Amino acid sequence: MSRRQFIMAAGAGTAVAGGAMAGLGGWDAQAGAAQHFALRSRQTSFQFGDHVTKGLISLTDNAPSPVLRVRQGERAVFDYTNGLEDYTSMHWHGIRLPNAMDGVPYLTQMPIGQDETYRYEFTPPDAGTYWYHPHCRTMSQMAHGLTGMLIVEERGDQGFDADIPLTLKDFRIGSDGQMLPYFTARGAARAGTHGNVRTTNWQQDPVMDVPAGGLIRLRFAVTDITRVHRMIFPDVAGRIIAWDGQPVDEDIPWPTAEAPLWLAPGQRVDVVIKAPAVEGEELTFRSLKGRNSPFNVLRLRSVGADLKRDIADVKPLPRNPFAHPNVKEAEVRDIVFGWSPEGEGSNNGLCGTFDYTFWSINRSPWPGDVVSGIAPVAELKQGRSYILRMRNESPNLHPIHLHGLVFKPLRSNLRTLPANYTDTILLLKDEVVEVALLADNPGDWAFHCHVIEHQKSGLSGYIRVV
Ligand code: C2O
Ligand code: CU
Ligand code: CU
Repeated sequence: MSRRQFIMAAGAGTAVAGGAMAGLGGWDAQAGAAQHFALRSRQTSFQFGDHVTKGLISLTDNAPSPVLRVRQGERAVFDYTNGLEDYTSMHWHGIRLPNAMDGVPYLTQMPIGQDETYRYEFTPPDAGTYWYHPHCRTMSQMAHGLTGMLIVEERGDQGFDADIPLTLKDFRIGSDGQMLPYFTARGAARAGTHGNVRTTNWQQDPVMDVPAGGLIRLRFAVTDITRVHRMIFPDVAGRIIAWDGQPVDEDIPWPTAEAPLWLAPGQRVDVVIKAPAVEGEELTFRSLKGRNSPFNVLRLRSVGADLKRDIADVKPLPRNPFAHPNVKEAEVRDIVFGWSPEGEGSNNGLCGTFDYTFWSINRSPWPGDVVSGIAPVAELKQGRSYILRMRNESPNLHPIHLHGLVFKPLRSNLRTLPANYTDTILLLKDEVVEVALLADNPGDWAFHCHVIEHQKSGLSGYIRVV
């Protein structure tokens, strides 16, 4: 099997040599053709264990939503039709795009009603691993499965023998296969409500076949609404090549059981490993549950003749074309994430709200769907550099995500953070992190915790760039 065929097989979810059907379906823009995708949300079913679960949501039938692959620097069009009764919208997590295409109800567009189509159209400036999810009825639609990966291909072949997108997502499912309540007030006020069925591409403990001795690119994305993964990679030659879509500037250590890699909701990591040279040998990627009980996220099994690749052949990914903040001249803005001062319910908008708020940004809980009259968390001048000093005043973890811009960590009061550009940063208990950004993309950009129960119970706001 040639490299290209193998990549296609992995992308298309084909079973190879008896491997589990662990891949995600992929929709590619054909070479040279216009990049136009017609997407429609729908109710669907899926069998996770012994029973079929009904009432899931996907862009395809009886399977997770497809991996959308587009080319860097070329216009892409996504016509998204709402096939559900509930309102929706689609957000392209991590992509630096025009504000009107960002998919945030009330901030950038109106919610999309049943059978309505909204055209999202943008030219992705950066290659890398991104993902998409609704931003209206976010909690219920994501909990029911509506998330997918968006891959922006680098120009030119990067020399991998396989390229495998992997979405890590839990579901809350009862013994008869029925969906259990996916949020709880108790969870929302603490670490969030965790799922009990842990999946990779909707499969539990999947095994995927990879070419023996090949260089395998794995793209992990945490698309779960709650779980902060602590990942342990197998003890083999490997390298972390990208973090939250961007090629790494500073090395991220290879994660071990003693020092796992924290990967929070919204975050992605691109990894290259060398597959075992001997056919039939396996590698296991794990994640820690609770204090230290690991579960399998992925198993790779080598097939075919040894390709004899060498990890030293991996070249760094090409840098993406964005300008960097000028840290010396940056103005500092303080942002505090904490409890909600009042704890009142949010207003009852079209996009789904809770009866309570627990969380706040700068002491003000997000009031719900409508933003008129709500001040931004910060107002930044286009073209200027800023340092956001973000303080977590709570004992819980908060992956803080900013739309439309990238930022890089400068320092933390608790640990050393590699200075890699990102769109989502995990704040630990009592952590204060300073990040730098260049406010080069005008608009109102959503800014929130990606534990969706936190987002929906107050830990949300927006940053204005004018
Ligand atoms: Cu991935 Cu505002 O979201
Ligand atoms: Cu986003
Ligand atoms: Cu949070």
